[in-house]
This record gives sequence, structure tokens and C-alpha cells, in this order.
Amino acid sequence: MDNTRIDDLPALKRSDFASDFRWGCSTSSYQIEGGINEDGRGESIWDRFCATPGHIRDGSSGAVACDHYHRWPQDLDLARSLGTNAYRFSIAWPRVFAEGRGTPNQKGLDFYSRLVDGMLERGLEPWVTLYHWDLPQTLQDQGGWANRDTVDAFVEYTDVVTRHLGDRIKHWITHNEPWCTAFHGHHEGVHAPGIKSFKTALQVCHNVLVSHGLAIPVIRRNVANARVGAALSLHPLKPASESLADVAATTRHDGLRNRWFLDPLHGRGYPADIWALVGDNAPVVHDGDLKVISTPTDFLGVNYYFPEIVADAPGVGVMSTRVVESENVERTAFGWEVSPEGMVTLLSRVATNYQPAEIYLTENGSTYDDVVTADGRIDDFERRRYLVRHLLAAREIVRKGIPVKGYFAWSLLDNFEWAEGYIRRFGLTHVDFATQQRRLKLSGKWYGAFLRGEI
Ligand code: FCB
Repeated sequence: MDNTRIDDLPALKRSDFASDFRWGCSTSSYQIEGGINEDGRGESIWDRFCATPGHIRDGSSGAVACDHYHRWPQDLDLARSLGTNAYRFSIAWPRVFAEGRGTPNQKGLDFYSRLVDGMLERGLEPWVTLYHWDLPQTLQDQGGWANRDTVDAFVEYTDVVTRHLGDRIKHWITHNEPWCTAFHGHHEGVHAPGIKSFKTALQVCHNVLVSHGLAIPVIRRNVANARVGAALSLHPLKPASESLADVAATTRHDGLRNRWFLDPLHGRGYPADIWALVGDNAPVVHDGDLKVISTPTDFLGVNYYFPEIVADAPGVGVMSTRVVESENVERTAFGWEVSPEGMVTLLSRVATNYQPAEIYLTENGSTYDDVVTADGRIDDFERRRYLVRHLLAAREIVRKGIPVKGYFAWSLLDNFEWAEGYIRRFGLTHVDFATQQRRLKLSGKWYGAFLRGEI
């Protein structure tokens, strides 16, 4: 195997990790499936959002994406060939209920049933996410996540999916990155449904967290030996300077980015410092909601991508903070700082402060501008180096006694990267979107060799 640009790194072997460590790739429905009008699927907020010019950088959508809806056997073969033992995917709610609730669409359920059987036949343990951002548009027309009724709809959807698939799926992730659902979708407006209101974003956060808590007993009722958790996007933070103002700004930023989710999920309620700051923007909280949100889970999913540097910024938004770009740091093509050390800091902090029984790295990955050579190779040295360095960090975390039990690389395939369209490639496998040809990149070949014990 070509070791160029990783031969200076310490040796790493799969056998450095426990034999029951979960190794997988992570995907999501809207980003790979395509087939948006097939077999009774209803419209999702992402179909609607993409249709408005200016929302997606290359004017694209997930209408075809990786055509995984038709090519899934080949994609699962690929996942198996890498030597993974688990596979994270999400269910498109509008395939199960075209209008969000009511009569389930049997064909949509059958698709996921076949997909899960396909995983099991290939020795891939299914890890499902119930909500990875593709809300049925009909529910959005009634207020979406800002409307408390969507919480009830999510619980009904969870009930139907768990009754159909719970005999074969044991690992259930309720929500992917509630921060993104709330803030990208409802404050910044850069993701569907494209709303720009801080107050709405906080209500959405709350409703999403309540729906997580209410779904847990439903999952446990319908699935024997279920293991349940949520996947949060978390960031290690550093102040831009040692000034008291920047340090205090970092605490505030952390309050909304990390603690606003971690604290209530772990029974501490919303952080009081941030609650005081948000004032009239605070969400409506019903009696008992905080207890529901803190319903015990079996694991915490952490999606780790990058750290942030925070500065005091009087007058900027409700939080008076700004994320600044530090000089001289390594970055991916997205501009995200590459920091495997940050992953160690973050997970140490989560383990110390919140003591989850198990932690899974449910996403981690990088985007670079890949080049296909004349003979069809994709020598993505940077992505491979990123992967190896983060796995070295994962090993260090495990050696510290932190209960990290699995790693899911984002992503198996290049796919529809939300507002960035097809410009950003995160795959271990290159996808030619004109022909749908899949080609393993150097990073994917390395992951396969590592997982098969060849290195
Ligand atoms: C995460 C999302 C995932 C993907 C990666 C790059 O925030 O969960 O769908 O877009 O970023």
C-alpha cells in the first residue's frame, strides 16, 4: 500500500481496538437516495428548499443524488468489502408517511425492510437515524418543528417504523444534530426550511429534544433489546485571546452550541446562564418536558468535525459572540480546522462532565477537492491523512478509559452536501454523478485495508 504522506504517523491497527468495536460508514437518506417521486414518497422540506434558486450553491438537489434507492445492493456490497461491521443510515420520513402522519406507505416501509435485510445478509449491523433533516413538507406547512404537533407526529412515525423494523434493527438514533435542525434551518436559514428567527430556532430545539425523549419509551416498547441515543454535533472551543471578554464569550458560545443540548439531555435542564441571556426568545416549556428530555439513553452519538475559536463581539446577535478564523491552522476545503487533538479534548470533557455509558463517533470526515487521474485513481492523500489522524486520536481516547465504542466515517459515498450541493465531496468512495460510477478513493482503500487487518 502507498504510504506517501502517512509514513510519519504512528502505526495503527484494527487490533488496537476492542474486537467488538463498531466500525462503519455513515450516510443519510436525502443525501444519497434520490428516487424522490417513487413508490409513494411525499415531498420533504429539502425538496422544497432546493427548488428555490439561491439556496443550493450549484443549484442542485437530492432528486437523484447517488441513486441509492436503486443501487443500494451495490452500495452495501461496497460497505461490506471494506470490512465494516456496522452501517449508519437514516429513514426518510416522507417515504413512510407521505404527508407526515396518517396511513403509512407500505412501499416505503418495504424499501427499508429490504435495505435492512441487505445489511444483515452482509454482516452489517444496522444503525438507524429516525430524523436526519428530511421532514415531510406537509408538516412544515403546519409549522414544522416550531409546532408542538410535530412532536406527536414524530412519535407516531417512530411507533410505525419500530414496529416494522424493530425485529432486525437494535440501534436507534432519534435525531441527527438537533443544533443544525434548529440553527441552520431556523436561525441562519441556510438549511431547509430556511427560516431566520432566533426565537423560532430555540422553540425548534426544544420540540426536537422533547420528541427525542418521548420516542425513547416507544422504541423500547416495540424493540426487544433496543439501544437508543441521539447524535449531537459538538465542538471543542477556544477563546480568541486570554482576555476576560473572549473567555466569557467562549463560555456563552459553548452554552448554546454544546451545553444547550448536553445539559437537558443529562437531567440538568437548560443552562441558566444562557437561559437568562436569551430572554424573551426562550422556548415555551410544558410541565414535565425537562424530565422527558432527560429520559435515560444507552449511548451518546457524537459527530465530530472541527473546533471553533470564539471572540467577544458586542452587539452581534443575542449572544454577542463571533467565531473567528485563526491563522496558520490546517483546514479542509470547507475551511474547517483539522484538529484530531480537538476530538480528544471534546470527548474527555463530555466523558468527565456527563458520564455517558457509551459514546459512538457517529460521524467524522473531511472534504477536499478530489482529482480523478487519467487512469481513474483518486489519490486523496489529505482525506486519508485526516482519517488516520482521527483514528489515532480515537485510540488515544479509548486508552484514556473513555467509553468510545465505535467509529462511523462520514461518508461511504460522495453525496448531496446540503447547501453546498455536489461541490463538497466527503466520500471514501468517489461518485461520478453523471454516470453513477463508484470508485474507491485512496482513503477508502486504506480504511478497507485497516479494517480487514491488512495493515
Ligand atoms: C454533518 C451532517 C451530515 C454531513 C456532514 C458533512 O453536519 O450530519 O449530514 O452533511 O455534516
